[in-house]
Amino acid sequence: MIYEVVVTTVNDQDEVHIAPMGIRFEDGFTVIAPFKPSQTLTNIDSTGTAIVNITDDVRLFAGCVTGKSDWPVYPATMVNGYVLDAAISHNELRVVKKADDEQRPRIYMIEVFNAATRPFRGFNRAQAAVVEAAVLVSRLHLLSAEKIDSEMDYLSIAIEKTAGAKELEAWQWLVDAIENFRIQSD
Ligand SMILES: Cc1cc2nc3c(=O)[nH]c(=O)nc-3n(C[C@H](O)[C@H](O)[C@H](O)COP(=O)(O)O)c2cc1C
Repeated sequence: MIYEVVVTTVNDQDEVHIAPMGIRFEDGFTVIAPFKPSQTLTNIDSTGTAIVNITDDVRLFAGCVTGKSDWPVYPATMVNGYVLDAAISHNELRVVKKADDEQRPRIYMIEVFNAATRPFRGFNRAQAAVVEAAVLVSRLHLLSAEKIDSEMDYLSIAIEKTAGAKELEAWQWLVDAIENFRIQSD
């Protein structure tokens, strides 16, 4: 099972980097699989730490894939790094081992601290639709325009029926990113 979360890491200069990632839990480890090359992988390799942020603010997912990466954070408790203000809970992780791969290494990490700051309020279809659309936008260069249009049409039903203000804002960033990509590709 894969959980969509937002991973925060820091570089050598203690600058925070924020990236949506799909993580798995396996034999007591949290497994993160960042593609090569990526800032997340570089940072984890250099610090040996990462923080998994669980958030219901889907603007983080849409924002990070559309160039909006400046989100409020506060220092972590047990590892070198920062937690998103938008996290309803977070896990602070240290690297234990790494299964290297040409494209996508798997990093096995253990939890050294976790905290829950806000309750999970339940599933929302518009939030799920934004996460799906963010995945599409992160793969615009790989997918056909027809595929993108038909998926966005379907996902827009959940947006129209169930979105709140944050979901509408996130959705609009994604719609704009698709339009800009097409203008630039023409
Ligand atoms: C829901 C979602 C899940 C993602 N999961 C992964 C992942 O597991 N591994 C990965 O490398 N990128 C993943 N991405 C794409 C990264 O967030 C994006 O490419 C990011 O820029 C990573 O590169 P960076 O660390 O250099 O920023 C995901 C994107 C979304 C929207």
